[in-house]
Formats: sequence, structure tokens, C-alpha cells
Amino acid sequence: MISVRAPSNIALIKYMGKRDSGKNIPENPSISMTLDALCTVAELTPSSGKGIQWVPELPQVSGLPLVVPALKDEGIGKVVRHLERVRSMAKEIFPQFGLGFQESGFVLKTANTFPPSSGIASSASSFAAMTLAAAAGFARDLEVFDRVWNSEARLRRALARVSRQGSGSSCRSFDGPWVFWELEDAVPVQASGMPEMAHFVILVKTDPKRVSSSEAHSLVRTSPLWDGRVERVETRTRLMMAALEAGDLVGVARIAWSEAWEMHSLFHTCAEPFSYWEPGTIDGLHWFAPMIRESSPPIVTLDAGPNIHVIVEKKFREEWRDRLKGHFAGNVILEDQQGKGASLIR
Ligand code: PMV
Repeated sequence: MISVRAPSNIALIKYMGKRDSGKNIPENPSISMTLDALCTVAELTPSSGKGIQWVPELPQVSGLPLVVPALKDEGIGKVVRHLERVRSMAKEIFPQFGLGFQESGFVLKTANTFPPSSGIASSASSFAAMTLAAAAGFARDLEVFDRVWNSEARLRRALARVSRQGSGSSCRSFDGPWVFWELEDAVPVQASGMPEMAHFVILVKTDPKRVSSSEAHSLVRTSPLWDGRVERVETRTRLMMAALEAGDLVGVARIAWSEAWEMHSLFHTCAEPFSYWEPGTIDGLHWFAPMIRESSPPIVTLDAGPNIHVIVEKKFREEWRDRLKGHFAGNVILEDQQGKGASLIR
């Protein structure tokens, strides 16, 4: 049996708008923090058939509270196409790493440690986990694969590229804690000055999204704010890289805050305007706004959804937990920390 886990990630500089939607090539660079416990577990068990078949069942991995995703036909089709993509690309990539390829039959089970529609990007962690599990399954020797996986950054890069074609943001879940993605490649960011970080998500609403992120990627291009967006993000990305390298938390928090507002402004101003914000989101944004101007601000961002992500220094985790629980008393708050990216469970 092969088991892997891959975490989700939260972007501070957002991937929004595709240059090539077939291959998920982004219009602009993005930067994210890899999470840890908020992850997908994928498990492969040998079967007599050929290829890999996904089944909606709970993996055996113990010790984690897992939820099997409820995939509709369209979602299952995407998974099937992706597993076929991993098979053909593994065949092509493996020889570069001295890895043998073998056609095997497997049953694949996946489950998440977070509830569906909870503001955690399940497609990022799911596609990263499925890509790594399937690649490991097609390796002739799992021990050798694991050794190369742990020692060869180029194999991570190569599988992140494959994963990106299934779900764009999943390519940032192969490394950590800070990852930069531009065009085809996601690579770790030199952030030597950054302290260890903790992460909270304030759940404002957990209903399925009214507008999927795929639809959002194309709708934003119709906003008048799309003009100059790529140049603005490129500037913000340079500033964010410098702030991460210097461990400038004030800089990181201010850039992330502007970027989250700008992405949502694109949603609010496109040809068919829409919003992910709920009354609780707006209340939260008002509450955080004055803090962002203070001397030790939290890093606050929103994904394509109503829930609020808060990243703070890990050494202040308890204080922030109490503060957030005090203000958001009626909301569930998920908690996590920075992580290192996808790995095999041995
Ligand atoms: O990977 P996708 O297509 O689900 O896009 C995700 C885009 C955002 O989550 C909104 C931003 C990001 O960079 O993760």
C-alpha cells in the first residue's frame, strides 16, 4: 500500500487569471504559504485491473480525522483525466531521475482533514496528493522513488508541473513553507528572515461557492481593473519576496492585505459583478483594518470565498487564538501552521 499526504496552501499574492487555461499557466506570479495539518491523504492499494481507479472510500491511515470528498461526475472525470496525465508524464520523466516505470493497477482513496467548502483549497491539496501517490505507484521500486523524492528537488519541480495541469494552485503544495509560482514552475522562496508562522481560518460560511474559481479566473479579465493588474502584481511580488527574505512582517502583512482587496475588487467590478463576501466577512475586514496599520500586524487574506485567513508568528499563537475566539465567538476557527509540502507516509 502507498500512502501520501499533501497540504493545502494559502496565497498572499494571488493566482487569478489564466494565460493558458488548458495547461493552467497563470497570467501573473503568485506566492503562498504551505499549510501542514490541513491536508489531503491519498492511498493506493494494488488491484488486478489496469490503471488507477478512484473510489469514494476512507483511506486506512489512522490518527487523522478524515472526510471523503463528495465528487460529482464532472469532478470524477477530472480526476480520471489527471491520473492518466500522471501515468504518461511519469513514463517520460522517470528516466531523467534513474527511476524505473511500471504499469500497475491500483485503487485510489483520498480524504481531507478539513470539511468541504471550508475555505481551504481542497483542489490544491487533493491534486498534489493524487499526483504524488500515482507517481509513486508507477515507480518500479518505491524505496528508490522515496529516496529520489527526498533528495532531488528537480523531481518535486517535475511533479508540481504535472499537478499544476490538474489544478493550478496545487503546484505550490510540493514545497514549503514559502513558495513562488511563475508560468510553469513553482519553487521555494528564500525567506530566511521569516519566523515560524501559525495559521487560522475564520469560517464565515461553508456553503458551496456560487462562482467556482475556474469561472472567476475568466470573469476577472472583464473588469476595468484588469488593465495594469499583471504589472501591479509583478511589483507587489518583488516587494513581497524582499519582505519575506528580510523577515519584514509589517511589509508582508501590508502587501498581502492590499492584494486580497485587489483580487476581490476584480470580482466586484467584472462584467457580471459577484462577491464572495458575507456580512461576517465585512465585519471581519473592518475589525482587522486598523491592525494592519499597527507595528506588529497579523497577515490577513481571503481566498476566492468568504472565509478569513490569518497568519501570525507561532510564538504568539495562544494570544491570537484567544483574541480571535473573543471577537469571532460565533464562528468555527480552524487552526494550522506552516508546513513543508507533500510527502510519502512511511
Ligand atoms: O487553483 P485554482 O484554479 O482553484 O485557483 C485558486 C485561486 C485562488 O485560490 C483564488 C488564489 C490562489 O492563488 O490560490
